[in-house]
Amino acid sequence: MRDYSKEYEVKKMKVEQLLDLIEDNDFIFTPMAASMPQKIMNNMQYLKKTGVKNIILQSCVPTGDFPFFHDPEMKKVMKHHGWFYTSALRKSSEEGLISAVPQHSTSILRKTFDRIRYEKRRPVLMTTVSPMDEHGYFSLSISSIYEMDVIKNGALVLLEVNPNYPRTFGDTMVHISQVAGFVESDCPIPKANIAPYTEIDAIIGKKVATLVEDGSTIQLGIGNIPNAVANELKKKKHLGIHTEMFTETMIDLIECGAVDNTQKGFNDGYCICAFTVGSQRLYDYINNNPTVQFKSSTYANDPYTIGRNNKFVSINATLEMDLTGQCASESTGVRQFSGSGGQAETIQGSQMSPGGKSIVAMHSTYVAKDENGKEVLRSKIVPFLTPGAAVTTSRNDVDYVVTEYGIAWLRAKTIEERVQELVKIAHPDFRQWLLEEAEKNMIW
Ligand code: COA
Repeated sequence: MRDYSKEYEVKKMKVEQLLDLIEDNDFIFTPMAASMPQKIMNNMQYLKKTGVKNIILQSCVPTGDFPFFHDPEMKKVMKHHGWFYTSALRKSSEEGLISAVPQHSTSILRKTFDRIRYEKRRPVLMTTVSPMDEHGYFSLSISSIYEMDVIKNGALVLLEVNPNYPRTFGDTMVHISQVAGFVESDCPIPKANIAPYTEIDAIIGKKVATLVEDGSTIQLGIGNIPNAVANELKKKKHLGIHTEMFTETMIDLIECGAVDNTQKGFNDGYCICAFTVGSQRLYDYINNNPTVQFKSSTYANDPYTIGRNNKFVSINATLEMDLTGQCASESTGVRQFSGSGGQAETIQGSQMSPGGKSIVAMHSTYVAKDENGKEVLRSKIVPFLTPGAAVTTSRNDVDYVVTEYGIAWLRAKTIEERVQELVKIAHPDFRQWLLEEAEKNMIW
């Protein structure tokens, strides 16, 4: 067997040496969430010293807050594109240091590469990997959102090798020969334990579970409600998993026997996902586990791929919904809150799947502050979306909407019927107002 240890030693470098490889106009892709290369990101301000300029760095739901997110002087070096905001990036946005990229997860790669070619930029990938194996392969570990495609498109590959990251399979194997340089690091892997969910989440979870038939393939979105839903699915049989984010609650479903991946009709025997973040239990579960496949989102989130699964049920959350069923899931008015991620695509995929359905689950209300700073209850179901809000999911694709007050069936319903359905599941304090607004504005 060939010995890769010499090549390893040649490519191992200090973080400054690695950042010295960055050139003017580079387009830097970073991975999803907890795979952000922490040592490299914590040293990005070193680029101010190297004098490079006109760089673009694209981030996606980064776990953690890095100093360069908030350094106005970095504007001289780079533009920060945010594909999915977090609280750190919302702050960076208020500071005028980031701008959101509206983009589906399956087309972001193709369109970004069109831009890269047009602007004659060099693609660069910076990500975290688990240690090299005896065959010279690193694993992309807990994020394979577009990294493998970026590598295949000829990017300069700069890695952070960290033994705290699990070794996963799918579109994850990067060979040392494909790598320009790497740093070693032992930063702890970011962890997210399952947050305890509320009584309202549990009520919603129970209602959603009534819509999920045995033998369904499920996708769970981000937030507390999907966790509550998973808990309620434990009595189901022969479920399969095809999802963007793999969650710890899915391990519970596998271990209790509710998920066996036998009736998906596509990728039977495997859970398909694109990224994960969770507890040490989750990282231990996926480590060296060939049954959890980390696939690029160009595959995992592609509605055509999703549509090949039997009875695919997408379960997602939203921030605001109008009376016709349009979902603003990533912004509150003009303010970018998160990102579209794979929401619209998984929902579109459910429409293509035999027996598929899409479910949007949300609390009926949220708490806001009025102009005097007093807490007030507001309805998430509204006559019109807040001006400036981005429609993440089209009303054409939403089948069922679930709140703590019930299930609204929008499938094949007219706008007049949708208004009736959605008013029924709105908080009682807002039902009359919604009906009056619908009448006044002729929403029928
Ligand atoms: N207007 C203003 N603020 C609102 C609001 C509205 N209509 N609805 C909720 N909020 C506030 C909440 O009060 C909360 O505020 P806080 O952080 O100060 O407590 C905040 O917005 C988040 O709301 P919450 O309901 O707790 O969000 P969540 O963590 O359950 O996530 C989404 C819900 C919609 C933001 C999240 O699922 C998302 O980003 N989705 C888009 C992408 C996606 O679905 N990806 C998965 C597909 S693979």
